[in-house]
Amino acid sequence: MERVLIDLESADWGNFIRWHFQMPELKTTIRNFPDGESYIRVEESVKGREVIIVCSLNNPNKKTLELILLCKTLRENGASRVGLIAPYLPYMRQDKQFHPGEGITAEYYASILSDNFNWLITADPHLHRIPKLNNIFTITTRTIHAAPFIADWILKNIKNPVIIGPDHESKQWVKKVANNAHAPYIVLNKLRPGDTEVKETIPDMRKYEGYTPVILDDIISTGKTMINAIKNLVKMRVEPPICIGVHAVFAAGAYEEMMAEGAKEIITCNTIKHSTNKIDISDGLINIL
Ligand code: R5P
Repeated sequence: MERVLIDLESADWGNFIRWHFQMPELKTTIRNFPDGESYIRVEESVKGREVIIVCSLNNPNKKTLELILLCKTLRENGASRVGLIAPYLPYMRQDKQFHPGEGITAEYYASILSDNFNWLITADPHLHRIPKLNNIFTITTRTIHAAPFIADWILKNIKNPVIIGPDHESKQWVKKVANNAHAPYIVLNKLRPGDTEVKETIPDMRKYEGYTPVILDDIISTGKTMINAIKNLVKMRVEPPICIGVHAVFAAGAYEEMMAEGAKEIITCNTIKHSTNKIDISDGLINIL
C-alpha cells in the first residue's frame, strides 16, 4: 500500500520522514474561515493509500479538532488507513481522579484518537499510573524512547555528569540515561500541592563534588519541577545545573524563569519545536515506521 505524508507540525520529524523514507507529501488545503472554523480539502486522490499525519500535539485543545476533521476527510475520500505520528502525546498526566469529580482525561483523549486513527507512534509518553499505552488505546501504538539519544548527547557534551531525577516518576528514564551514559544518578522526592507549586527534597551533594549536575525530566511545562531542583542545587553551591527535558512544552515564562534561577543551559529533544531542541530523536522512526 502506498504511503503518503501530511506534515502538520512536527519539529524536524516531517523532514526526516520525507528524506529517509522518500515518502511523498499529500497536497491538502487547511485554512480558517473568517469565523475561525477550519476548511479542509484533500487536493489529490487518497484512494487505497495509507496516509501518515505527523503532528506534535502540544496546545492540544487547539490542534486536536482540526486533526480529527482532517482524518475524517481523508477517510471520506477513500484513504485505506490513517496513521498518526505524534512526537508529543498530551493529556497523559491526568491519569487518575486526583480529586472527586475530576475526569481521567488521559483515557478520554486516547479514546478520541483510537476512534479515528488506525495506529499511533509517539515518543516517551508520560506513563505513570497507566503502565502501557495499550491500557487506554484500542489501536496499535509504538513508542520511541529518548533515553539512548539523551545519553549519547550527554556522553559527547558533558564532563562528569551526575543525573538528577526531580521526582519518583522520572526514575524510569533517569536510570536508563545514567546507565547508558555511565554516570551516577539520584532521584528526588517531589510534592505537588498545586499546578504551579512544587516542593522537592534533595540529598547532600557533597559526594558529587567535581561533577556536573544534570536535571532530567520528561516534560518541562511550567518549569516549576526543574526550578525547585535548581534552587536546591544553587543553595548547595554546586555547579550550575544543565536541565534536559524530552518534551519542550514550556508554559509562558518557564524558560526565562529557569535560566534566571540558575540553570546553566536548557536542552530538549525535538518532539515540540523550540529553540532548546538540541537532541534529535527522529532517527527512532527508522526501525518502527
Ligand atoms: C510529572 O510527573 C512530569 O514528569 C513532570 O515532572 C512535570 O510534568 C513537569 O511539569 P512542570 O514543568 O509544570 O513542573
